[in-house]
Amino acid sequence: MNKIKIGIIGTGNIAKTHAGNLKSIPEVSLGPVFDIQTNRSQAFAQDFGMTVRNSIEEVFSDSDAVYITVPNKLHAELTLKALSAGKHVFCEKPFALNIDDAEKIVKAVNEAGVVYQIGFNRRFAPVYKKMKNFILSGDLVPASFNIKMNRGELQSPPWTSDPEVTGGFLFESTLHLIDMVRYLFGEVKKVTAVGSKTIYPCVDDFSMIFEMKNGVHGVFSSSAHTTWIYPFERVEVYGNHFAIYNDEMETVTYCSGLNQPYNQETFSTLPIEKRWGFIQEDLLFISRLLGKQEDDMDLIATHIDGYKNVELIENIYQQVGLGR
Ligand SMILES: NC(=O)c1ccc[n+]([C@@H]2O[C@H](COP(=O)([O-])OP(=O)(O)OC[C@H]3O[C@@H](n4cnc5c(N)ncnc54)[C@H](O)[C@@H]3O)[C@@H](O)[C@H]2O)c1
Repeated sequence: MNKIKIGIIGTGNIAKTHAGNLKSIPEVSLGPVFDIQTNRSQAFAQDFGMTVRNSIEEVFSDSDAVYITVPNKLHAELTLKALSAGKHVFCEKPFALNIDDAEKIVKAVNEAGVVYQIGFNRRFAPVYKKMKNFILSGDLVPASFNIKMNRGELQSPPWTSDPEVTGGFLFESTLHLIDMVRYLFGEVKKVTAVGSKTIYPCVDDFSMIFEMKNGVHGVFSSSAHTTWIYPFERVEVYGNHFAIYNDEMETVTYCSGLNQPYNQETFSTLPIEKRWGFIQEDLLFISRLLGKQEDDMDLIATHIDGYKNVELIENIYQQVGLGR
């Protein structure tokens, strides 16, 4: 069997998660790695049986597909380079940090004719799959929502508080559930936002109201300094006497009708890579490279989702008016 050779650029926290998942897929061979911190790439290569390379070009020349798992500000540049080298790309979120780069990537993906995927793992986490399935089946007809997406701190890794590197807090954790708004409720008609700079040198508190094209509307708050009090993330959806909410990726609770008992499913016994949707997104990326058809493929975040999320975030930052 011809295996797909994967290269990895950036060997930090999230790269370890992906490499661990990829190692368990028989059709994958883990190939070259590059990190500007060679001590990291060496330890990583040893842990996952990979080969250390000295540049991104060396990674491209020895791989079929690359994972881009470096800090946010480098995603667009490395994605464009990988696409022009003809590589399939899995890039961690965010897609890009401004609309000009987002446009360039959309064009480059279309021209390269390769597989491109963004790391919106939440789409495949069981708690969110449950919500999506209730909506797709028509059992839950959403009318409004209430979302929070917080972080305890912007200290780990240290670059997360630097808007020059992240593009701003919205491109960090908040982005996962900005993507979730579109995943669950369709396209956005209008977003209204206020924000403030409280603890960190970036806008670190946001309050937003979303109006969707299909008439659904909702509120969304996001703070970057909430001490990891549980749950840091929750989506509540209110529908036709049907309500559902999650507590992080641990539990989903729902009541499907008046005078009905409520149900709760707990996923804390699943390994984290499955509970958070990481293994599912990696398996789907490899299936796409192999040309296999799988359930859930239409739920994958594409370059068009990447573009629309950047457009939305640019709009929010413009309204807040405090820079990033
Ligand atoms: N989907 C998720 O849930 C999730 C979770 C964590 C991180 N992420 C994203 O993944 C990316 C990486 O985050 P992380 O937590 O792994 O960060 P990290 O700091 O742990 O790792 C980043 C690595 O990239 C390396 N690097 C920096 N510049 C480089 C360059 N020019 N070339 C090669 N390597 C370079 C660093 O030396 C470091 O080892 C970020 O964009 C983050 O937003 C996503």
